[in-house]
Amino acid sequence: MSPAGPVRELRAEHLRYEAGGRLILEDVSLTAPAGRALAVSGPSGSGKTTLLLLLAGLDRPAGGRVLLDGTAMEDGTARHACAMMLQSLGLVPILTAVENLAVPLQARRLARADIEERCARWLEALGLGSLGEKMTQELSGGQRQRLALARALALDAPVLLADEPTAELDAASRSLVVDLLVREARRGRIVVVATHDEEVGAACDDHLRLVEGRMGR
Ligand SMILES: Nc1ncnc2c1ncn2[C@@H]1O[C@H](COP(=O)(O)OP(=O)(O)OP(=O)(O)O)[C@@H](O)[C@H]1O
Ligand SMILES: [Mg+2]
Repeated sequence: MSPAGPVRELRAEHLRYEAGGRLILEDVSLTAPAGRALAVSGPSGSGKTTLLLLLAGLDRPAGGRVLLDGTAMEDGTARHACAMMLQSLGLVPILTAVENLAVPLQARRLARADIEERCARWLEALGLGSLGEKMTQELSGGQRQRLALARALALDAPVLLADEPTAELDAASRSLVVDLLVREARRGRIVVVATHDEEVGAACDDHLRLVEGRMGR
C-alpha cells in the first residue's frame, strides 16, 4: 500500500515563532511536495527543530500558517497525516523496542496482525531485527535513534518529519538511513529532514538553510 494517500503538498507560509520573549523564526516559507525530500540545515539554534514542530502541527506559529493540501494544520485530519521523529527521540524507557513501535499503532486502533507486521518490517528495515525484545536502555545511542525513526516510519503517514536522524550513527547506519529516507520520498511521502549531516543534505532533493531563524542562502 502506498503511504501517499491523497496528500500532495506541505506548505508553510511566512512562519513566525516567538519564545521566551525572543523571535525564533521569522518569515520562513517552504513548499514540500510528495515524492521529494527536503533538507533543513543551519547552525545549532537556528530554528530547525522549531520549524519541524510547526510543520508537524505540534506547536502553533505566532504568525503565518502551515497547510497540507490547502488544509490548515490545526485541523485534526491534517495533523494526523504527519509523523515526526523527535530530536530527543521520545522513547519510553520501561518498554521494549518492539513495544515502543507498537504503542502509537495501537493508539490508532490498527489490527493486531497489521501492527505485528509493521513492527517486524520497520525493525528489520532499520537493522534492528534482532533487538525487538531489548529494553530501550539496553540499546546504544545509534540503535535508539534508529528505533525512533522506525517508530515514525511505521505510522505510514504521508508526511515524515525527521529531526537529526543520523546524529549518532556510524557510516554504515547513516547510509542505511539516508537511502531509506530517499526511498520513502520516492514511494510518495513528503519527507522533511533537519540535519547537520552533509551526506543527508546531499541525498535530499531540496534544501532550506536557516540562519538565526531566517531563511539563509
Ligand atoms: N520554548 C522555548 N523557549 C525559549 N527558547 C526556545 C524555545 N524553543 C526554542 N528556543 C530557542 O530557539 C532557538 C532555536 O532552537 P531550535 O531547537 O529550533 O534550534 P535547532 O536549529 O534545532 O538547533 P540544534 O541544531 O541544536 O538542534 C534556540 O535559540 C533555542 O534556545
Ligand atoms: Mg534541533
